[in-house]
Amino acid sequence: MNQLFDETKIDVNGPVPEKELERQYYYLAKARAIVQKQSEALGRPLTCMVVTFGCQMNARDSEKLLGILKSAGFEEAESEDADFVIYNTCTVRDNANQHVYGRLGVLNGIKKKRPSMKIALCGCMTQEETVIEKIRKSYRFVDLIFGTHNIFKFAELLVRTYESDGMIIDIWKDTDKIVEDLPVERKYPFKSGINIMFGCNNFCTYCIVPYVRGRERSRAPKDILREIERLAEDGVKEIMLLGQNVNSYGIGLDDPISFAQLLTEVEKVNGIDRIRFMTPHPKDLSDELIDVMAASKKICRHVHLPVQSGSNRILKAMNRHYTKESYIELALKIRERVPDVAITSDIIVGFPGETASDVDDTIDVVRKVQYDNAFTFIYSKRTGTPAASMPNQVSDEEAHANFDRLLAVVQETARSRVKLLQGRVMPALIEGVNERDPKLVTGRLSNNTLVHFPGDASEVGQIMDVSLDQCEGFYYLGNRVEHRG
Ligand code: 5AD
Ligand code: SF4
Repeated sequence: MNQLFDETKIDVNGPVPEKELERQYYYLAKARAIVQKQSEALGRPLTCMVVTFGCQMNARDSEKLLGILKSAGFEEAESEDADFVIYNTCTVRDNANQHVYGRLGVLNGIKKKRPSMKIALCGCMTQEETVIEKIRKSYRFVDLIFGTHNIFKFAELLVRTYESDGMIIDIWKDTDKIVEDLPVERKYPFKSGINIMFGCNNFCTYCIVPYVRGRERSRAPKDILREIERLAEDGVKEIMLLGQNVNSYGIGLDDPISFAQLLTEVEKVNGIDRIRFMTPHPKDLSDELIDVMAASKKICRHVHLPVQSGSNRILKAMNRHYTKESYIELALKIRERVPDVAITSDIIVGFPGETASDVDDTIDVVRKVQYDNAFTFIYSKRTGTPAASMPNQVSDEEAHANFDRLLAVVQETARSRVKLLQGRVMPALIEGVNERDPKLVTGRLSNNTLVHFPGDASEVGQIMDVSLDQCEGFYYLGNRVEHRG
């Protein structure tokens, strides 16, 4: 954990500091005293568990939550049978919500045997009023609920949770605040996500994210670069720049810069070997960005470029601001200018009014772009979004039939793309020991393909040249290649 703040400045017996960062370190010191007292009474350390649902943004937020909990003195537990359990939730599709409700029921069972246990909920789901009502009514054993905009207040909320009996609910509608330099506990020593911006202004008509993550706001380049420099000093080799739409990075800053310019600056940080980013919106992926990628030694050969649909009629209804033709042109331009690039996508099936012929158009895009992989989703109606009240909602049967047709083509093109690398030698970042065979390690290529090859735990975090000997569908079996000369 990188300690970024001089805590000797804090006087826990003094007044609550006004500046946000100092305030949170003040509460962190208070939380530490509470945790210490409780663990002395129990004669054992207090344990915690952060459970993450959803995307890379949530994964990064969870590292911040764990950073606070560990700084407060909690030890990380192996299961949810712990003293403090927090669910960092996702609400992009309804099944994510249902999953959380189900898991909360199980947690209640654990809490009955462990009355001092605290249960917290945060993340996108908690930004929905209907969710809060339901938790208030039917899940009264939850101790703390907070949202996506005030996650930086977690230390303060933790103290309040231990100092009061009732359920604490603290949800903000939006914020323009970005609080830097709170503790973070990274999941991987060798790679890290970095938020470059928060929120989304695009309002795709099916999507709930703009309502639960608020308006776009970018972090200052100097703060991002400082964070990356610190990560490099800490041994991180690969970083992923995170934002709902990284192409609109920099708008609204005092000195606006483009995402491509930010990437150029990030490239200069010594010690970082690989740079990834997620997610660019196809409507405004610039030539400047493609040029920067093409010239870069560090930016990974992977663009996740969600198409959502290949039908112009549906794209319009989705408010995506591009056409099938302009999307294909963009994807093929990226392929041409960035050799060996992998292009992946998100696709939704069953958007209101979608017919089999619209899905044919989507399948046509998959064939023309030849995705290296694509996540396919059945449309999920999200209350409050424009699509939820559109006519012609598609039946489950029809959506599933179209989904299966699409998935078959996605898998076929993904297989044929992965196969193209057969026999090549490429650098792989070793991410861990193979889960099924401990004699193998798992490495990730620049284009995101996985390769398993002989190695051991001591090599995790190293980048090695690997021959891609045998294609096994979506991944490779290989062998390391020693450098000659
Ligand atoms: N239903 C299904 N999929 C959705 N996504 C976003 N909203 C919905 C929804 N209502 C998908 C999109 C997006 C990905 C993160 O989740 O494909 O790119
Ligand atoms: Fe949702 Fe569209 Fe924003 Fe992505 S760009 S988070 S799909 S509204």
